[in-house]
Amino acid sequence: MLNMCPKICLLTIAMLVTEIKGVIYFLNDTEYNRMPPVYKLDDYKTCLEKPTDVYCNVDFNLISDTENERLTMIHEYSEHTCTHYNHSQLNHGICYTQRCQNYIDHTKMKTSIEKCLNDTFMKEYGLSTQVTRFNCHGLSDTKRELDKSDIAVAILLLTIVLLNVAGTIYDYNRKENIKEKKYLLCFSIARNWKKLTSYNSNAESQIEYLKGLNGIRCIILVGVIMVHNTWPYMRAGENLHVLELSFYKVRQNILMTGSLGIQINFLISGFLLAHNTEMYMENNSINWYSIPKSIISRFFRITPVYAVVIAVSATWIKYLGPGPLWQDTGNVLYSHCRSGWWRNLLYINNYKYNSQCLPHSWYLGADMQLYCLGIILCVILKKKSLRKPVLAGVLLLGIAAIAIHTYVRDLDPILILSPGEVKTLFWTAPTFNETYKMGHANIPSFIIGMMLGYYVYEKRKTGLQVPKSRGLRYIYWALVPLAMAVMFSGELFYRDAPRDPLSVRVAYAALIKPIFSSLIAMLLLGMIFKIENVFRRVLEWDMWIIPSRLSYSVYINHMVLIRLYIGLSHSLFFVSHTNMNLLTVGVTLVSLIVAVPLCLLIEIPFLQVFKCYMIGNNKKKEIEKSL
Ligand SMILES: *[C@@H]1O[C@H](CO)[C@@H](O)[C@H](O)[C@H]1NC(C)=O
Ligand SMILES: *[C@@H]1O[C@H](CO)[C@@H](O)[C@H](O)[C@H]1NC(C)=O
Ligand SMILES: *[C@@H]1O[C@H](CO)[C@@H](O)[C@H](O)[C@H]1NC(C)=O
Repeated sequence: MLNMCPKICLLTIAMLVTEIKGVIYFLNDTEYNRMPPVYKLDDYKTCLEKPTDVYCNVDFNLISDTENERLTMIHEYSEHTCTHYNHSQLNHGICYTQRCQNYIDHTKMKTSIEKCLNDTFMKEYGLSTQVTRFNCHGLSDTKRELDKSDIAVAILLLTIVLLNVAGTIYDYNRKENIKEKKYLLCFSIARNWKKLTSYNSNAESQIEYLKGLNGIRCIILVGVIMVHNTWPYMRAGENLHVLELSFYKVRQNILMTGSLGIQINFLISGFLLAHNTEMYMENNSINWYSIPKSIISRFFRITPVYAVVIAVSATWIKYLGPGPLWQDTGNVLYSHCRSGWWRNLLYINNYKYNSQCLPHSWYLGADMQLYCLGIILCVILKKKSLRKPVLAGVLLLGIAAIAIHTYVRDLDPILILSPGEVKTLFWTAPTFNETYKMGHANIPSFIIGMMLGYYVYEKRKTGLQVPKSRGLRYIYWALVPLAMAVMFSGELFYRDAPRDPLSVRVAYAALIKPIFSSLIAMLLLGMIFKIENVFRRVLEWDMWIIPSRLSYSVYINHMVLIRLYIGLSHSLFFVSHTNMNLLTVGVTLVSLIVAVPLCLLIEIPFLQVFKCYMIGNNKKKEIEKSL
């Protein structure tokens, strides 16, 4: 009995605290079903049959003039925002002409929808409604006008295809000793196919000891797709209670905290920049003039595919709509790309809140900004004595930047995939829009990558021999569960408790990225110096080579596919483990298939053209010099 007392006392205190705070963390099914569904869609096909039929997608709030027990419960349950929806903000697709027959008034749509909903909700739940946003369309609205930009983009695409056709035909009919039209040859599909599918080329990832990067790239990409695939379920899930409860499940860990994994990509970026610059400097030199040159060169290497996907998203994609969920998905992509495409192409879209033109391209923006920082550092760090102090200094500045940002803006320590934020892809979420996607918030991993790059280059040159001891191998293997544990520790911030104190959040936010990246850096180091053969064999598997070449195109297009999957759906999605896994497999395969033409017809040819141009220029210079 004595033993029990503290527990009971604690429990009572805890209950009192939650009582005062008015947060409900858990509801059983009976209670849960007293709340109206957050999402609901009337049947779309049968609704729009006659030209006068209208279908509306409506956002509305539940309100009550008087004290209402049900609404109080809804508000208290919604208070725990990190794993619960706001159950007083609903989004329903309603068949206006059928459901609201008695209220139809085409001049005052909003009031008539509101009255219609209000009466149904009054009857069923005893609650009033307040419409915040609505969007209606009928059959006649589905016809869209062809505009100038559509035609321009069509011409652009046609030109690219024709160039490829011309290049291929030219390649086949070419006689050996006629002076080559090398630019046209860059577009030969036959040649580029060989480039895409050959197992040995002299690209950077083919440096023997870096071959494992192919595997890492592919695994991370699948992880990214997996995390992004939660969006359809969070935006339009049918059985949301299952979804909210899944936050308690351990196997969802990888989704809830997996967003930290993208740091590995920044790490690799920094690593390759430092390492490859060192290799380049064996035969060449770099100076301040090299900075704009290499930034421009990078810009031309990565932009063509990206630009084409943006161009299509800003034009032709509109013909795919409408649907019951189109307005919030496909149409957002269309309108944001139409007005904000230039921000993406300048790689500054990650410094704008709510930039939904390919929202995942925040990564490309951040990576470009870090590249600019990195190349400047590379020039400064030609002097070897400066390396340690400068890199350490920048690393500390990067950590401090995250800490200050989190402190000043009162942010979350990690990217919390709360259902309410994910459904709009973080329109207003400050943590995502600031410490997650802005360039300066990702400096630590990038700098750790650069440190690793310099270290590896030095050690390889001096021929470091790593002792093949068993102990070392066990320590190395232990790094993997350790890195996982570090990543999954973010799970703590989803627990049933009030938000953690600011100091805890600041400390965690500042330290988690460098700690995680350091562990991964050690893993990479072990792979490069061949400490063991298990992980390394898997990562260096030849099977990764081709998908790894497609990975950039896959990264760009997969999110568009997911968006279309939601936008073109006529029903809600049933949340289950099987469905989510199947969707991941499906999206991965389809985006790989879509990536093949993107890579073959656009990415590789333009890369070749750029290379030809650079080589041509260099030759000219040499000739000028020799004159
Ligand atoms: C759910 O909780 C309510 C109130 O706490 C209780 O009355 C009801 O019996 C519970 N239902 C089930 C199925 O456990
Ligand atoms: C939920 O939505 C309602 C209505 O928009 C709002 O008043 C309330 O503050 C929201 N609750 C939370 C916890 O954000
Ligand atoms: C909703 O309906 C109730 C009962 O008919 C009415 O009292 C209330 O004013 C209505 N609210 C709105 C926002 O129309």
